[in-house]
Amino acid sequence: MVIDPREVINGCDVFDREHEVLVLLINAIYKLVKEGRREEAKKLLEEGLYEYTERHLKHEEEVMERFGYPHLESHKRAHQTFRKIVYENFKNLEDEKSFVENASFAIGWILSHIKKSDKRYAQYLKEKNLKACEESPIKLGIEEKLKEILK
Ligand SMILES: [Fe+2]
Ligand SMILES: [Fe+2]
Repeated sequence: MVIDPREVINGCDVFDREHEVLVLLINAIYKLVKEGRREEAKKLLEEGLYEYTERHLKHEEEVMERFGYPHLESHKRAHQTFRKIVYENFKNLEDEKSFVENASFAIGWILSHIKKSDKRYAQYLKEKNLKACEESPIKLGIEEKLKEILK
């Protein structure tokens, strides 16, 4: 595992669970590339990581808006960068060395976003005693497949 899923726990259950899937997706793609399974990695990137990233970011923004989070606009701007980084930094699966370099940069950026910016809204929701964290996480239906790849 390149990222330990325990690293992304902010204490807001719904998004902790989504961040875990995001991390498992990245770990699985990374592992497939390392093992030379590029076609599988590409499929998981296109049908998994891109799709899940988009839905996760939208979900966060929707919840922040609904619960009146005061830093919504700057968080949305950070999500624009998040999207760009995910799209740009994982796409080159052919050359392992450059993949590792690009992916490592992306992983650092993503972890920092989750641990700092996402932690702020998690604290806001908890402090205000809002029920958002008890809602259901988004589902992609590939959680089992990820576990299979990562075992
Ligand atoms: Fe997030
Ligand atoms: Fe976020």
